[in-house]
Amino acid sequence: GRVWTGVGDLDEAAAARSVLIRGAAQAIRPVSKKMAFVVLRESMSTVQCVLVASADAGVSTQMVRFATSLSKESIVDVEGVVSLPKEPLKATTQQVEIQVRKIYCINRAIPTLPINLEDASRSEAEFEKAEQAGEKLVRVGQDTRLNYRAIDLRTPSNQAVFRIQCQVENKFREFLLSKNFVGIHSPKLIAGSSEGGAAVFKLQYNGQPACLAQSPQLYKQMAICGGFERVFEVGPVFRAENSNTHRHLCEFVGLDAEMEIKEHYFEVCDIIDGLFVAIFKHLNENCKKELETINRQYPFEPLKYLEKTLKLTYEEGIQMLKEAGTEIEPMGDLNTEAEKKLGRLVKEKYGTEFFILYRYPLGVRPFYTMPCYDNPAYSNSFDVFIRGEEIISGAQRIHTPELLTKRATECGIDASTIASYIESFSYGAPPHGGFGVGLERVVMLFCALNNIRKTSLFPRDPQRLVP
Ligand code: 4AD
Repeated sequence: GRVWTGVGDLDEAAAARSVLIRGAAQAIRPVSKKMAFVVLRESMSTVQCVLVASADAGVSTQMVRFATSLSKESIVDVEGVVSLPKEPLKATTQQVEIQVRKIYCINRAIPTLPINLEDASRSEAEFEKAEQAGEKLVRVGQDTRLNYRAIDLRTPSNQAVFRIQCQVENKFREFLLSKNFVGIHSPKLIAGSSEGGAAVFKLQYNGQPACLAQSPQLYKQMAICGGFERVFEVGPVFRAENSNTHRHLCEFVGLDAEMEIKEHYFEVCDIIDGLFVAIFKHLNENCKKELETINRQYPFEPLKYLEKTLKLTYEEGIQMLKEAGTEIEPMGDLNTEAEKKLGRLVKEKYGTEFFILYRYPLGVRPFYTMPCYDNPAYSNSFDVFIRGEEIISGAQRIHTPELLTKRATECGIDASTIASYIESFSYGAPPHGGFGVGLERVVMLFCALNNIRKTSLFPRDPQRLVP
């Protein structure tokens, strides 16, 4: 085969070399009958290809005409020689040009695309500036983007978002493996609800009623009963809630962990502390290009976090809110607005946008949550926040079948529907706890994006099943 060069690898060191590249024709600019420019893009990189008709180079005017007839986004192969431009190139990522010798169209795109990628890649500030200058630009709406996601995903910021998502997932695995966690896969076709409540997608399983797992919760606990001291899972989570908000999906990627607890459920919080500080550091140090790319379209301040993650009790949290004029029902839960406000207050007082809030009232937590030993009105549970929005919930779990049956019943769950789960705790089960993270939320909030649909490749929300 021939030797291909990646567009992102084209730099000064390649000057005067003959190369073969493939990319999407992002821009096509005719200059004259004898000259044209074609900008080729490959993932996050772009390079300017120059066509000049000349007998020496074997480039005909027909070839120049052919290049200018290409439709945008067509897939194009170019053979050419790398050259250094006279002036820095503003419109491309690569600071070299290709003097084209041959150009082939591999697959044509339709002449008019439903999304103009230039418009889809602009920041709000650019739109405003253009409008003030009297230019009429088209803002690409969220629905249009999602309807034509295969085009929308090509914007530099989307390319960056999903690279960052991959890094978060990878670091999650890497860190937990280093702490002796074992990766598992629990079933997604299950008999009943895992989190309690009615938010389940129902289906038929060989004539039996079944549903899609709302979380790996019950099975990751049973894996602990099964003798694995520490487990984690990365997998899909299904929620049939009709929540049309900026942060709810009907299917998301759950990063889950469960572990034996030796003395205190803060052992779980310590894992979260180490894990997330490692993730944030990794992103800031190793994903600079991606973060800058997102910043260009959606400007944001880097996340403020502490080397040792701040922990506050739920009571301290509602006290801070009270002092700032927001009354919270002491045994209730925080609504979205209160969480945001608490996030701002904590940032002002402690200088961090990442913290753990623990010891929630038992009544607002799922049935499997361990009540506090000193006061069973509270629970050994916690939520974790980035920029005032929840990314994790976790807790110590009940590990005795008697208390589990009692709590399930009190929470309106028929214990017979989860009998095999409850039974698992009667064969000898260690104290344990764990947590669940929403991957899309982590990426959304780390980058301060305003909608979870931006961090889901093909989002599933109550209105959307296609594409
Ligand atoms: O708070 P949740 O529902 O907790 C559980 O599933 C527990 N089994 C976790 C545990 O181990 N105790 O979900 C965990 C996380 C949330 O903090 C949030 O980040 C994310 O999953 N999440 C969602 N993300 C997108 N869309 C939704 N509808 C989500 N619901 C929860």
